[in-house]
Amino acid sequence: MSVRNVTVLGGSGFVGLHLSRLLAERGIGCCVPTRNREHAKRELLVLPNVSIVEANVHDDADLDRVLSGADAVVNLIGILHESGKQSFQRAHADLPHRVVQSCVRTGVKRYLHMSALCADPAGPSNYLRSKGEGEERAAAAAAQGIDVTVFRPSIVFGRGDSFINLFATMLRFAPLIPLGSPNARFQPVWVEDVARAMTDALSDQATFGQRYDLCGPNVYTLRELVRMTGRAVDCPRPILGLGRTLSFLQAAVMELSPVKLITRDNVRSMSVDNVCGCGWPEVFRFRPAALEAILPTYLGSHRCRANDGFRMRAGR
Ligand SMILES: NC(=O)c1ccc[n+]([C@@H]2O[C@H](COP(=O)([O-])OP(=O)(O)OC[C@H]3O[C@@H](n4cnc5c(N)ncnc54)[C@H](OP(=O)(O)O)[C@@H]3O)[C@@H](O)[C@H]2O)c1
Repeated sequence: MSVRNVTVLGGSGFVGLHLSRLLAERGIGCCVPTRNREHAKRELLVLPNVSIVEANVHDDADLDRVLSGADAVVNLIGILHESGKQSFQRAHADLPHRVVQSCVRTGVKRYLHMSALCADPAGPSNYLRSKGEGEERAAAAAAQGIDVTVFRPSIVFGRGDSFINLFATMLRFAPLIPLGSPNARFQPVWVEDVARAMTDALSDQATFGQRYDLCGPNVYTLRELVRMTGRAVDCPRPILGLGRTLSFLQAAVMELSPVKLITRDNVRSMSVDNVCGCGWPEVFRFRPAALEAILPTYLGSHRCRANDGFRMRAGR
């Protein structure tokens, strides 16, 4: 099956930008629905073969409109924190079901679904449970004659990520990092590798009906990740690891902030190791990059400067 047009739901986000760029490089047309075109990143707007359209993907008519004519749909929509109308249930569990129904109505036969490592309807957090439920609903599309592939990455890193960049910013301005869940384990995977695996899978029949855990080559604790980030930005700050109770307390306090950095639900997610039980899927014929090799290539703007503390206090 040759894929020439793809609709990428959530394509305006971090993974979406890298995926859309790769699709464009391979000459595949890409439709990226967004809730607000004005917020779309400039890098996305200038990509050839990419059209950005405003749509409410929670509305069936809009969803059908953006899927019509596509050879495949990729669903990257996901949230890390709930707020107002943004519920895990709606974004992670209900939407995949509605995407499948829309595929049936519009005749789209290929569905790539982005889940998350450790997603499980019986998982320890609302995030993991909703992702697990969504995965089941996406996989159920097979019964409707749709070829589904599910991707389950650990933390995804790379230019524009929120996780590593968040720590890089904190390291720049805070003299000490009080770190919840310091021993939580992760196996981060490079965004370019995720984008390549998804693009390669599009028309590879061997991937139809499969679920793939995607991890980089190495496992790190959260404390090690923060320490490595500190070295990459020349900001080796002391880290104060918090125990379980203090981790929940810190998250509960942070939930009161308008900008959600971490929630108690995130702490629950980190109670299970976010690592792959087996290696990189053989079906993708390349080796994933290590975090150490990539980190220094995209954190340059976060490099510590002597007067960062003054700058922050002066609001510059
Ligand atoms: N980044 C990671 O470390 C990581 C790890 C494991 C799994 N994942 C999964 O990978 C996928 C992509 O992650 P990402 O980091 O690229 O996310 P992201 O940067 O936050 O982008 C997600 C996109 O989804 C859209 N979106 C978010 N909430 C929505 C809602 N309620 N209704 C409609 N659209 C909504 C947004 O588009 P508009 O604002 O333009 O509408 C946004 O650009 C997600 O499913 C995530 O759970 C990511």
